[in-house]
Amino acid sequence: MTTHPQRRQTLAEAFEARFGTPPELWCRAPGRVDLMGSHTDYNLGAVLTLPIGRDTWIAASPNHTRSVRLHSLNLHTDASFDLDTADRNADQPWINYIHGVAEELKAEGLPLVGFDGVIHSTVPLSSGLSSSAALECAAATVFEALGGWHLEPLQKALLCQRAENRFVGVNCGILDQFTSTMGQDGCALLLDCRDLSGQPVAIAHGLSIVICDTRSKRELAGTEYGERRAQCEAGARLLGASALREVTPEQFAAREHELPAMVAKRCRFIIGEHARVYALATALANGDREAIRQLTAASFDGACHLYEIAAPAMHSMMAAMLAAPGVIGARQAGAGFGGCMIALVESASVDDFAAAVRTHYAAATGTEPEIYPVTAAAGAGLI
Ligand code: GLA
Repeated sequence: MTTHPQRRQTLAEAFEARFGTPPELWCRAPGRVDLMGSHTDYNLGAVLTLPIGRDTWIAASPNHTRSVRLHSLNLHTDASFDLDTADRNADQPWINYIHGVAEELKAEGLPLVGFDGVIHSTVPLSSGLSSSAALECAAATVFEALGGWHLEPLQKALLCQRAENRFVGVNCGILDQFTSTMGQDGCALLLDCRDLSGQPVAIAHGLSIVICDTRSKRELAGTEYGERRAQCEAGARLLGASALREVTPEQFAAREHELPAMVAKRCRFIIGEHARVYALATALANGDREAIRQLTAASFDGACHLYEIAAPAMHSMMAAMLAAPGVIGARQAGAGFGGCMIALVESASVDDFAAAVRTHYAAATGTEPEIYPVTAAAGAGLI
């Protein structure tokens, strides 16, 4: 990956080549990886989440028009939209994430300024590390800096989630946007999606988090995500709860037989996964390797057999991670269906771990994976 000054120079040169002057301001917002808590967010449960050093940058200048004109260095393409219309762009869907944010800001009555911008992201696209939330939160930060008003990080997260729900049309929970705006350098966050609080969680010295990207792409807007969500909501209704978060494991065990078999499986996963979030937060803080191993194994087992969000590439990656030196535990990340996974690894073994996973996974699948350690980064802001 390029260094900070190189990246800055690349963006500045691209900006000047396109718009004729240097950019006036720089904003960034991070991607995220969930350490525990798959699909618990829209069930108002808990997630242990990590804002990561992979992030999206926007270099921008006001252009004194009502247009937002953007160039994406990742996609090598230009797109624009008018601040006074609400037409979606079917040819360049990536700009809808930014236009959606503008629509939500307008709905709040906040004045918006047209700008020119160049975007560059080190969050891999469609890989389960929340490139969309990073783009939304970085864009909201540009509008904020140019508009001369302020949004609290939680307000910004909720607004960007609404942009994704309404304008983009993905019915996601709050996990991605919350992590991207509320992130703190140096610690994971224990997010409670019912009261929207985030507690910092320290990770014991000597433990590293390694992202293992299967490079098998997933599509979140597909039907599976919405189906899982509808099944959970049906389960909560049948159990007389407003959300699965309200149902304890004991209550669920006593009434599980009343639910249709498929709904029961989905609910069992979510209720177990919510409990595992708190257990993993304790295990990570204490460096309890055996608990980390058991909790991550149970999470992946449930993802395969109860929530059914695993894909063949994920099984190959799991086998490669668990066979590699220094591994403590491993599981899925993001929505599942391919994309990135994570391993907890002894810090002293990260290089050996990464080399072994690459060899094993490439031999099994014919695809070169991307394996890299990540540490916690700060939430969205000006650079
Ligand atoms: C996607 C969604 C999040 C969350 C995760 C699964 O990343 O955007 O809201 O539901 O999947 O935990």
